[in-house]
Amino acid sequence: MKTIALYAPSFWNVQRFELPPQTLAVVIDVLRATSTMVAALSNGVQWISPVANIEKAFSIRNLSPSVKLAGEKGGGRIEGFDFGNSPQEFLGTPFLNFELAMFTTNGTKAFLATMSAQEVIAASFLNLEVVIEKVSQWNGPVAYFCAGTGADFSLEDAIVAGAIIDRVDPDHPLASLYRFSKNDLPQAFRNSKNGANLVKIGLESDIDLCLQRNRFPVLPYFDFTQGLIDLSAKSNKKEKR
Ligand code: MLT
Repeated sequence: MKTIALYAPSFWNVQRFELPPQTLAVVIDVLRATSTMVAALSNGVQWISPVANIEKAFSIRNLSPSVKLAGEKGGGRIEGFDFGNSPQEFLGTPFLNFELAMFTTNGTKAFLATMSAQEVIAASFLNLEVVIEKVSQWNGPVAYFCAGTGADFSLEDAIVAGAIIDRVDPDHPLASLYRFSKNDLPQAFRNSKNGANLVKIGLESDIDLCLQRNRFPVLPYFDFTQGLIDLSAKSNKKEKR
């Protein structure tokens, strides 16, 4: 299996147009965009439209007033948005048929950089095993889009990539990183730049939720042509390249 590690925004911004044919893109923003997406979609949300900026989210709602807005800036909720970027907000009451436009600092942009992938899925610890199953069955390259924090590499996304790769390409350095870190993930996550920010702004409990394994065994797919993430398996391209 060919593993393509896109460690940070500088990698996925360069490689966005240049993935090899038949590549599966695995987007990872474990703190917290992909964890929140997995929680939301498994709790009734029908689709999520990842957007590149806050204005785009508001313009989607202006066109379709029933669409709710979710996301963060600096980790906190954005004024005028209905939800933040916390998976905890999507527990409990089912959000049946909710439609979300979502903006986050890095995570939603990482989805928008997957245009040359054959299929695109969202990964987190909350849905780890279904992601591993999908990756194990894929007959082509797999590119890991680690969302990162700002412009930087983020340890926590690399650890989740490593947890997947450990099962399919165990000699890869990210698999070693995962094996090295796995005995104290709560501390590793808290020590990461994004984790430390969540602690600082009072959202530390999100870290523990995002570390739960397989709580929501769903596989979100992103359809680049429609611009939507939902739970219906489909190819990013209508025809194989
Ligand atoms: C991001 O997209 O950078 C993250 O999801 C940020 C966060 O949730 O704090």
